[in-house]
Amino acid sequence: MSAPTPAASAPSSSLIPTLPGPSYTDPVIFSEEQEKIFESRWFAAARSAEIDGTGAFRTVDVGRENVVLVRGRDRRLRAFLNVCRHRGARVCMQETGVVKRNLQCGYHAWTYGLDGKLVAAPNLTSMPDVDRAAYGLVPVHLREWLGYAWVCVADEPPSFEETVVGAVAERLGSVEAIEGWDVENLEVGRRIGYDVHANWKLIIENFMECYHCATIHPELTEVLPEFADGYAAQYFVGHGAAFAEEAAGFTVDGGAGLTAIPGVGEDHDRKYYAITVNPQVFINLVPDHVIFHRMYPVAPDRTRVECDWLYLPEVVRSGRDLDRSVELFHRVNQQDFDACERCQLAASSRAYAGGGVLVPSEHHIGAFHTWVTEQLQG
Ligand code: FES
Ligand SMILES: [Fe+2]
Repeated sequence: MSAPTPAASAPSSSLIPTLPGPSYTDPVIFSEEQEKIFESRWFAAARSAEIDGTGAFRTVDVGRENVVLVRGRDRRLRAFLNVCRHRGARVCMQETGVVKRNLQCGYHAWTYGLDGKLVAAPNLTSMPDVDRAAYGLVPVHLREWLGYAWVCVADEPPSFEETVVGAVAERLGSVEAIEGWDVENLEVGRRIGYDVHANWKLIIENFMECYHCATIHPELTEVLPEFADGYAAQYFVGHGAAFAEEAAGFTVDGGAGLTAIPGVGEDHDRKYYAITVNPQVFINLVPDHVIFHRMYPVAPDRTRVECDWLYLPEVVRSGRDLDRSVELFHRVNQQDFDACERCQLAASSRAYAGGGVLVPSEHHIGAFHTWVTEQLQG
């Protein structure tokens, strides 16, 4: 029996096609995405301030690579492929930690300085021809922006200004618009990790549209009534979704939020902005906090999401109760990820082999699909 003709192929100006089902399930496609997207683009790896002090490190999977970010004696953060140049063992096995002076491979004890140079190895002095600089850890491109360390494991990274800063500017109308939040100097008040059994693209697509908001986000649509109409704030350049008149703040019960970030101007007061930075970051801006999502694709049907709630340092240090503030978007995350998992369950069905369709308020997701297709072809 052949697969049913996908609805997407029927001529219609209201409905345009999605990617086909195998895009979300096929290990070969996933591996191509790892190579041509996650290993080729800038990737928000870690909150810089958390790698604090000489010798502090964090390891992160970026595509099929593992990267170690480590702070040097000169306070600079550097990133390297976490691969010993001797016989290829992973050098740092922990996700976070602090080393005293060096990174030492646990196999034959080749030892690297915090700047990546090979500084010692058993019997190295009896091998004077070994060029220690040439056998240092392989460096990875690193940029710090919005308080995050962004890495690119490709030899030649794309322009950070165009692909990362540009995505924020394109959504907000200008890059200056985000400066008022001073994201770099906010502190993590809460971090929640989610193990989502869904393809990373389903999570981006879901974040880009609000056609689902009325169905699955009762708390969010109470605070942002325009979301109940199904139009995502991301759709319009510079547009923020206004809080409901009766909502005092961006909280689960519409009660007052925390101390507003002083640089957030009147234009942005009582509004919510959502930004997608392909391929793995979402930034949500409200007057008193920023919610920053990072996605780590693990398998075609699995994505780990790390979500930070960032507040003014004095708010975090005061020990004020953040629960009602965090709970709103934590619920939104759970509701969204449940929906993505629902789609993942059906993505391998014969009924979805040709994909589904996008209604007009989702048509901008088509641009994301074009972007993915171009990356894979390019
Ligand atoms: S593999 Fe690292 S020291 Fe041998
Ligand atoms: Fe949602």
